[in-house]
Amino acid sequence: MSPRSYGDYLKLPQLLSSQSPITDEHDEMQFIVVHQIFELWFSLILFEMKAIFSSLEQGEVRSATRTLKRIDKITAIFPHYLQVLGTMRPQDFHLFRGALEGASGLQSEQFREVELVSGLGEESAYVEGLRKSGHWTEKLEKRLPEDSLRVATRRLIEREGVSLEEIYAHPDDHVETHDFLEACLDYDERMQEWRAAHLRLAERMIGSGALGTGGMGAPYLRGTMRFRFFPDLWKVRDQVTVSGGGKLAGPASGGEKR
Ligand code: HEM
Repeated sequence: MSPRSYGDYLKLPQLLSSQSPITDEHDEMQFIVVHQIFELWFSLILFEMKAIFSSLEQGEVRSATRTLKRIDKITAIFPHYLQVLGTMRPQDFHLFRGALEGASGLQSEQFREVELVSGLGEESAYVEGLRKSGHWTEKLEKRLPEDSLRVATRRLIEREGVSLEEIYAHPDDHVETHDFLEACLDYDERMQEWRAAHLRLAERMIGSGALGTGGMGAPYLRGTMRFRFFPDLWKVRDQVTVSGGGKLAGPASGGEKR
């Protein structure tokens, strides 16, 4: 038997025969490849999330933080990948956009799973919105709100036996937990950056008022900018400011929610 080859190991024949443009337009190939790359990254994020939950269950917080940092690095490159699509002129996009018919990132089940595993399943308005628009699938239904990173942060704080405020008042006394919580915040920031970059790309390609292929458009995307995976971790900053002698402009909110 011949030794394992690079192509067999990576299943390159299958991978590289999975790009099937439906038009003869040049820019459609990069459109497909970039979307497929994102789906691969989403799949890796979901895989790594499982490892984080398992590390946390075993009390291995440092290992969970290390894995979360990998997810942070993955998501940090998202805006750059979107820039590949930004090299396309809107006029060229319209040459094949019609052929997409109703196909839209709105239907990305893995992206929803990433949002749910991060914590948005606790937001009833988010879930209701997906139900109403017909994008709530059986697979998503199976993802329980409690199996999320947001809930995992709460459990970790409980296990520490102190409040979140206490951890942020004395971070050096709770280094492992504090590091993990800050890595969660980094990840939350990266996903905000992805939403902002994706919104800009949509505005650049189809404008700020046009309907998307999924029937929503940039106004809908602007609305999703309000999501935060870890509202408590944002809110606690207000407390830190007050403890440091600062004043609040209004009630502490933890970022807007839908
Ligand atoms: C030419 C490039 C792109 C344009 C013009 C675009 C446009 C849009 C628009 C207008 C929406 C809102 C739903 C709709 O009306 O269809 C949307 C949703 C979405 N798109 Fe894109 N998009 C592009 C590239 C991408 C890429 C590369 C990805 C990577 C997977 C992606 C993932 C998503 C996701 C996940 C949603 C749902 C967002 C949410 O519900 O929060 N899009 N896109």
